[in-house]
Amino acid sequence: VNLVLLGPPGAGKGTQARKLQDRFGLVQLSTGDLLRAAVAEGTEAGLAAKAVMEAGGLVSDEIVVNILRDRLGQADCESGVIFDGFPRTAPQAEALDALLAENNSAITAAISLEVDDAAMVERISGRYTCAGCGEGYHDSFKQPQTAGTCDNCGGHDFKRRADDNAETVSKRLEAYHAETAPLIDHYGKEGVLKHVDAMQAIDSVEAQLASLVALEI
Ligand code: AP5
Ligand code: ZN
Repeated sequence: VNLVLLGPPGAGKGTQARKLQDRFGLVQLSTGDLLRAAVAEGTEAGLAAKAVMEAGGLVSDEIVVNILRDRLGQADCESGVIFDGFPRTAPQAEALDALLAENNSAITAAISLEVDDAAMVERISGRYTCAGCGEGYHDSFKQPQTAGTCDNCGGHDFKRRADDNAETVSKRLEAYHAETAPLIDHYGKEGVLKHVDAMQAIDSVEAQLASLVALEI
């Protein structure tokens, strides 16, 4: 099973991909996470990506596809993958089809998380994650059960992303509408498109997704 999660910044792709990973034994593959790791390690790709990410633009297809190809080649991906934040452009969608075809595989479903732009700014500006395990939180929508302690790993360190400020968020939304939203039509034509109402609470979005994915597994 290979799932694509489509949706604007803040739609909940990362939140839901982690849940699907745990529930169905799939591997979450987030190009945003891979790029942030490359930036932190100071690799050549990371150095090239850093300024673009901080400005809210899209990193070049070449860099993103290379990073994704390396990760997809690792053994754990054979059990099935959730693509989170990839593809984001038409050339990336083509590259993904070709990469999967090399392994006699294909996209099982592309799931569009449907949300209003206005809510996205609020979701993103309240977001933070556990530095230890990556569990996601939100100032208003999802606080740890014990203040200052991660529900998942018990850690006490939390962090916020450098690109989660109001100005960069509107750039990211622009890039989404210009480059990524057309992929919804593309997957519709390929007959693999599903929709989820992602304005609902996190648990309700999870339930919608789980019932869709259960049909494919
Ligand atoms: P990336 O890391 O992919 O960021 P993004 O697409 O902007 O998505 P986000 O991580 O912001 O949002 P999300 O949908 O995962 O939401 P989340 O679950 O965290 O990309 C970052 C940058 O890297 C890009 O700008 C670009 O420069 C570069 N990049 C990455 N991939 C690329 C590619 N393929 N090509 C080119 N460049 C690329 O949820 C957000 C918050 O809301 C959380 O706090 C969460 O707790 C809360 N929340 C989630 N769901 C709900 C809900 N239902 N109700 C209330 N709150 C909710
Ligand atoms: Zn944690």
